[in-house]
Amino acid sequence: MNVVLFGPPGAGKGTQSALLIEHKSMKQISTGDLLRAAIKNQTALGQQAKSYMDKGELVPDQVVIGMVEEVLKADKHQNFIFDGFPRTAPQAEALAEMLKRLDMKLDRALFLEVPYDQLLTRLTGRRVCRSCGATYHVQSKPPKVDAICDVCGGEVIQRPDDKEDVIGTRLKAYEKNTEPLKDYYRAQGLFQSVDGTGTSEEVYQRLSREL
Ligand code: AP5
Repeated sequence: MNVVLFGPPGAGKGTQSALLIEHKSMKQISTGDLLRAAIKNQTALGQQAKSYMDKGELVPDQVVIGMVEEVLKADKHQNFIFDGFPRTAPQAEALAEMLKRLDMKLDRALFLEVPYDQLLTRLTGRRVCRSCGATYHVQSKPPKVDAICDVCGGEVIQRPDDKEDVIGTRLKAYEKNTEPLKDYYRAQGLFQSVDGTGTSEEVYQRLSREL
């Protein structure tokens, strides 16, 4: 089963993807994670992407489409969760074409619904491990030892794009480019909205029922 998991920044896409990987043996393709890895490895693509991400703007479509295509070609016929991709109409069209070429199909587009004030609380309080990318929150999920990752012992930091001024730009980019994908997937009969509030486990139970 191939699933698009989408929603505004901070809706819990990464958190829910981790649970789906653990419990349902799905494979995540997170364009945000792929881009951050490219920045960490100081590739040309990473350097290009960084200037957009630091400002909270979307990275150009062709860059992210190319990245996703590489992963899909190498690893086709898994049960994929597309996390944070597609984010624009051209990306959604490109995904449909890629899947068709690879004789695959999209089964659901699950949208995580979270009120604006909760998104802000989640984003401003999020912390991540610099080494392994594990996600924490200062209130709802702090690491056991302050600033040290429970998983790998790495340093736990705030993501540069989780600063308040950048969050505003990310939310606007979401409203302009990604929100319209609800109608795109609704028209294809793939759209399902899922209540993204409550604990991560509660959200996961709701998502599971849709799979
Ligand atoms: P990306 O990394 O994809 O960021 P995003 O979409 O803004 O989503 P986030 O990672 O911020 O949030 P999330 O929904 O995964 O929430 P999480 O689970 O972490 O993209 C970053 C940038 O890369 C973009 O701005 C853009 O520049 C670029 N980019 C990426 N993909 C692109 C594309 N396709 N096209 C163009 N550019 C692209 O949770 C957030 C916090 O809330 C955490 O602290 C977590 O612990 C907490 N939390 C989660 N669930 C709950 C819950 N149920 N209750 C309480 N707290 C919770």
